[in-house]
Amino acid sequence: LPLPCDLHPGRRSARGVELGHAESLNALLADIRAPEQPRAAPLVDGFSLPGHVRPVTSPIDSQTIGTVTEADEAIVIAAMAAAEAGFPAWAATPLDSRAAALDRAADRIAADRGALVALLQAEGGKTLDDAVAEIRETVDLCRYYAAEARRTLAPTSLPGPTGESNVLRHRGRGVFACISPWNFPLAIFTGQIAAALAAGNAVVAKPAEQTPLVAAHAARLLHAAGIPATALHLVPGDGEIGAMLVRDPRLAGVAFTGSTAAARAIAHRLAERNGPLVPLIAETGGINAMIADATALHEQLADDVLTSAFRSAGQRCSALRLLCVQEDVADEVIAMIVGAARELTIGDPRDPATHVGPVIDATAQGRLTAWIEAMERQGRVLWRAGEDRPLPASGLFVPPAVVLLDRARDLKEEVFGPILHVVRWRSTEIDMLLDDIAANGTGLTLGIHSRIAATADRVVARLPHGNVYVNRNMIGAVVGTQPFGGSGLSGTGPKAGGPNYVRRFALEQTVTINT
Ligand code: NAD
Ligand code: ALA
Repeated sequence: LPLPCDLHPGRRSARGVELGHAESLNALLADIRAPEQPRAAPLVDGFSLPGHVRPVTSPIDSQTIGTVTEADEAIVIAAMAAAEAGFPAWAATPLDSRAAALDRAADRIAADRGALVALLQAEGGKTLDDAVAEIRETVDLCRYYAAEARRTLAPTSLPGPTGESNVLRHRGRGVFACISPWNFPLAIFTGQIAAALAAGNAVVAKPAEQTPLVAAHAARLLHAAGIPATALHLVPGDGEIGAMLVRDPRLAGVAFTGSTAAARAIAHRLAERNGPLVPLIAETGGINAMIADATALHEQLADDVLTSAFRSAGQRCSALRLLCVQEDVADEVIAMIVGAARELTIGDPRDPATHVGPVIDATAQGRLTAWIEAMERQGRVLWRAGEDRPLPASGLFVPPAVVLLDRARDLKEEVFGPILHVVRWRSTEIDMLLDDIAANGTGLTLGIHSRIAATADRVVARLPHGNVYVNRNMIGAVVGTQPFGGSGLSGTGPKAGGPNYVRRFALEQTVTINT
């Protein structure tokens, strides 16, 4: 089993950033402290606006941990107007100064890790290692987009005939809406904003309704780092608030991460509104498969399956949903996975020994429970946690489970939680298996466990998945190393944490001068 908490001494993030003194678990634990009475409110030009206040509860124990003041239509309109007014000054800020502000934001986020871990755990139900990994990723994203902006957005001279100068320039497009999900309430929220700001845009950010406290805390850190309050505005609220934002004719672009259904709804609204044609950068879900053939190393496969399917309670877009294991080794591999899964500790994510914390809200818990019950009625559940040891009596927990399906094409939706589906395939059926996997139209992450290079090549050539992992687990893409994002129903690209991302937020302008 992987260690519950991977805080190895001296561990560094991809950009070589040390998270302060978090070299040992004890040092980090001593640092974790939630801010007093956390609250989130609409932030327009740096002012907190009044509105409808509701409590924010924790998925761990349903206790109230803070309050959120939600935006309404008038606040969305005010935020858009303020962002439009703030855009020219931010766009005119030298590229290097914009990038430097993001570098300072990275420093502030790293330095504030104690409060951020506490909020990520209380509001997002994150285990300690997930919370720390998310802070590292956020720091990496700020630094990486700052570096990429400096590298790719400076004016470039292009070749041309004698007597003519040709320069390609990049500048901000205007106001970007950044709409983010709850499962990476810090990293995705901040990453979208950082890229939009690096390219010279003003931002109106709408975090997920489940996680406004982490988002508001991050917005305050960005402002404290020197991002002008006139360039970054916050509108907490639900999908309706996101829909209002997207309708606004002044919008110059949308960065969205979330479900495929919401991405489609946004695309419709953008197409229907009166306004300019603008980019939609959408990163959505996937029905992620791992294909294991008879040459896979069983222990490594079982370990990688557990990490991919059950870490973060299966609430990563990258998580493994469907293990496809070759018939010859299926009995042994499945027995090993179930045996290892029995050792998972499910419970309060603030306990460093916990592997699997709660799911995000009662809606998710109800949906996942109904799914498992339907599978049970069909006699498909091979194992379900809780059979062996009791689960927490309260809190939004869903027992990890292993479910057997007949064909890969039988899994038609993204089951967003700790439920692993398994299919068995014969060596003569590999083409049918690949067709089945392709048939659902998603293309986010794909795992391959095989010691035959030609098999891996064949699978990669046949399937369009954006992130393919061979002989390892399939979660935790590293910024700048594994640019992340899918194709088809899984998103538009460009990949987050990759070299083409920031440029997509910028307006390209070619200036040709007859000299
Ligand atoms: P969601 O689509 O319900 O919500 C995401 C965000 O969109 C929230 O802020 C929500 O309020 C807003 N929203 C919802 N409907 C909207 C509409 N019609 N117009 C404008 N905004 C709207 O998704 P979720 O449940 O928060 O997140 C889970 C989903 O996100 C999963 O499908 C997961 O796979 C996906 N995801 C993808 C990635 C990726 O990088 N590809 C990363 C994380 C999560
Ligand atoms: N970037 C996240 C991962 O790879 C979604 O798990």
